[in-house]
Amino acid sequence: MGYKCNQTHLRLMLCALECNFFYVILIKIKGKVKLRIRRKKWARPELAVCPFFESEPESCRGRWSEHFAKKQPFYLELGCGKGTFASQLALREPQINILAVDIKSDMLGTARRNIVSLFEENNRAVDNVALTAYNVENIEKILSREDEVCRIYINFCNPWPKPKHKKRRLTYPNKLEKYAQLLPDGGEIHFKTDDLPLFEESLEYFAQSGYEIVYKTNDLHNSDVKGNILTEHEIMFSEQGIPINFCIAAVRRPQAVPV
Ligand SMILES: C[S@@+](CC[C@H](N)C(=O)[O-])C[C@H]1O[C@@H](n2cnc3c(N)ncnc32)[C@H](O)[C@@H]1O
Repeated sequence: MGYKCNQTHLRLMLCALECNFFYVILIKIKGKVKLRIRRKKWARPELAVCPFFESEPESCRGRWSEHFAKKQPFYLELGCGKGTFASQLALREPQINILAVDIKSDMLGTARRNIVSLFEENNRAVDNVALTAYNVENIEKILSREDEVCRIYINFCNPWPKPKHKKRRLTYPNKLEKYAQLLPDGGEIHFKTDDLPLFEESLEYFAQSGYEIVYKTNDLHNSDVKGNILTEHEIMFSEQGIPINFCIAAVRRPQAVPV
């Protein structure tokens, strides 16, 4: 083929192939090598009949609690991928409800299968986890303050390293401001990433957007944090010896000054 992969191509291929997300092929268009990802044909039909997948999330705004067996603390995971994290958290903590959101239905198809098999293995009904396909850029259209989100997880979001693409990051200030509208004062975002520049810039984004960093580490797996649940990307990066950055950012609303 006479083509040398650059670092970005290698990283993308490793992610896709090692996680078995998709079939990936390399094609050449106008002299440039592009990655083409083949769809999982079974994902959408399976999601269409899945009782814990919401196909019209905008209609649930303000009443997500109706999706779950019990009204209890409500968590979100943004960019959930194959659902490894949300499924394990929901199983381990039956006293919370969690909505896992991803933009890609193919990913959610795999997440659905993972949730079903994990809960079946443990003889548990799937009653405290829900999935939906949505672009987090517009999160305010599917969630409101009435939903009482009390914690948000962002695990290994795409780093978007080029300056012109940084605003697409799930931790970019315009999105952090939207998440703050959903959370109560003191509500937390738990953020993990392998990518140090993304981590350091996100710490600044949190500060700019009215959050206080209440915990941070550049080496989560050698820290004092207990009960960490590994995501699919976290497994892959740690196997390569890459340390995991983690922080907890809490919303801090300015207190009204008594007159
Ligand atoms: C690098 S993967 C991480 C997956 C998983 N959280 C993990 O830790 O293994 C990033 C995920 O975010 C999703 N994503 C990216 N941008 C998104 C957006 N704007 N809205 C919703 N999901 C998004 C992608 O589809 C992908 O599944």
